[in-house]
Amino acid sequence: MSLDPLPSELVTGDTAVDTGHRLILVELRELVQTRNVDVALRSLRLHFAEHFALEEKLWDATGYPDAYKHEQEHLAFFDTWTHAGARWLKHGDEAARERFIAIVARWVQEHVLGVDVEMVAWLKAHSEETCRQTSHP
Ligand SMILES: [Fe+2]
Ligand SMILES: [Fe+2]
Repeated sequence: MSLDPLPSELVTGDTAVDTGHRLILVELRELVQTRNVDVALRSLRLHFAEHFALEEKLWDATGYPDAYKHEQEHLAFFDTWTHAGARWLKHGDEAARERFIAIVARWVQEHVLGVDVEMVAWLKAHSEETCRQTSHP
């Protein structure tokens, strides 16, 4: 069994993007056992925000055409987070914790397999194009 928290089907091939996803999944795993829920949630939320900012920088650098649609997914994620997190904090039990983790994990999986994979394909095609243009003017 692989110890890599990032399942092979979620590997996009972009090192920076995959590293961000890996970090998020490690922290999500740790939520299963943490006693300090507030600190863990704040840290994970910060890493989501940093990861989204990294992707947004990559879009700006390449003129990524689906930036608006992709950004809407990132913004909607925080609504999901707030809703699921509020339920966890309200109920404060193991079932609520498990529900929260499952909701966030499913969002990550669906988002990566959907728009993130397409984004990385775009980034690769366009950074290769940029390299070709700059090396063969
Ligand atoms: Fe991502
Ligand atoms: Fe994304």
